[in-house]
Amino acid sequence: MSEQNRGKAKKRGVVMQVEDIQICVVMVGLPARGKSLIAQKAQRYLRWLSVDANVFNVGNYRRDANPQPTADFFDTSNAEGERMRRAAAEAAVTDMLKWFKGGGTVGILDATNSTKERRRWIKERCDAEGIETLYVESKCDDEDLIMSNILEVKTTSPDYVGQDPETAAQDFRKRIRNYEKVYQTIDEDENDLTYVKIMNVGKQVIINRIQDYLQSRVVYYLMNLHIKPRSIWLSRHGESQYNETGQIGGDAELSANGEMYSRKLPKMVRDSVGDDRPLTVWTSTLKRTISTAKHLPKEYNQLQWKALDELDAGVCDGLTYAEIEEQYPEDFKARDDDKYNYRYRGGESYRDVVIRLEPIIMELERSEDILIITHQAVLRCIYAYFMKKSQEDSPWMAVPLHTLIKLTPRAYGTEEQRYKANIPAVSTWRSKGSVAKHEDAPPDDAQSI
Ligand code: ATP
Ligand code: F6P
Repeated sequence: MSEQNRGKAKKRGVVMQVEDIQICVVMVGLPARGKSLIAQKAQRYLRWLSVDANVFNVGNYRRDANPQPTADFFDTSNAEGERMRRAAAEAAVTDMLKWFKGGGTVGILDATNSTKERRRWIKERCDAEGIETLYVESKCDDEDLIMSNILEVKTTSPDYVGQDPETAAQDFRKRIRNYEKVYQTIDEDENDLTYVKIMNVGKQVIINRIQDYLQSRVVYYLMNLHIKPRSIWLSRHGESQYNETGQIGGDAELSANGEMYSRKLPKMVRDSVGDDRPLTVWTSTLKRTISTAKHLPKEYNQLQWKALDELDAGVCDGLTYAEIEEQYPEDFKARDDDKYNYRYRGGESYRDVVIRLEPIIMELERSEDILIITHQAVLRCIYAYFMKKSQEDSPWMAVPLHTLIKLTPRAYGTEEQRYKANIPAVSTWRSKGSVAKHEDAPPDDAQSI
């Protein structure tokens, strides 16, 4: 990293110790191999961890010049097509290098980068600026999967807006065949490169020359991704005795209303799953989440994670917001001013919670259907990861008690459904500056079941 860039990066105070490193992640692979999905997910994961990451999609630059090309545009014997595609790659790399100069940490170059010559060129451009390169090749020879990728995302891509999906799919297959004519997989000639090759969505993974912590985090994350259909259900524990009195933290038992929620939860979950398949349930180690899970069917495997325990309020544990404001007025204000970064005396900040939740996110990426019963702050952090909520907004998000949230990852983002139990509960949401015991949360659009 250049001196100038190092100065800029130092100011950021990132979660990982990555100040001295800048990495260009170079996607490699034929069309419809999930490169864009992988690039977007890596960007989301890194940003969630406060690493400045940005995707540079060459297709978007090419669309500026040619918004709806047909397959012959991608034939290497098409000189004009070649020129325009080269110009799009140049423009993307130039913008990316500019962004690195401003102190960016992980730039993700999303294109096919399908020839050795192209990959060498990117390496030279990055080397000249002191930027590491990490090549991520996605290979896939499962014809059914490729066809379903085309139908799922390509026929709705801006390249084919307004066109008949069948014709679009045919044209896209022709485009792939044009790329296949020149495609060179990463092989032993390129053993000086740092790379990871992911075959058939992680069935086999080859890793070469990983050099540092940040590269290994990115690679480990990518190795854990899968695309099997699944959902993640999130719920806070049922209302607790501390919730009733407006106290924070602690290890209180459920209130009478919370107990009712724990009895209703099994049916809500079953209705939302849609069949009898058992889920895996993760709770925290605190009584209120374990009790909320206690009526779930025996077939549901249950696991307690310390990492899912509520944000530690340190010396303020057990106090109400009014008491905190009275006893620690400066802290109360400091927290409202920067809720994500404020760390309770002897306790945690939201930023700290995100760091301890990282293994949970990794495990969630590897897993299929999971029900997580946890706490307000922890749920906000997990939700922020899936729904790309900013650090500014996520600590203030309303997550009502007695509400089940279903998140379903899709190729284009995460779908969300909310189900209300219709069992009364106090509100634990608090607006900036307020010391109210129970303040009305903004209305939510959950459906009642
Ligand atoms: P293009 O080069 O046309 O931009 P792409 O390789 O970026 O194509 P995506 O747009 O990301 O492809 O395709 C998304 C589809 O690929 C989704 O349906 C997703 O489920 C699927 N997918 C995700 N990961 C993989 C993978 N490792 N191998 C094959 N398909 C994958
Ligand atoms: O074909 C998929 C695509 O994303 C095009 O939209 C884009 O023009 C191209 O790949 C970018 O990659 P290349 O480096 O092969 O031009």
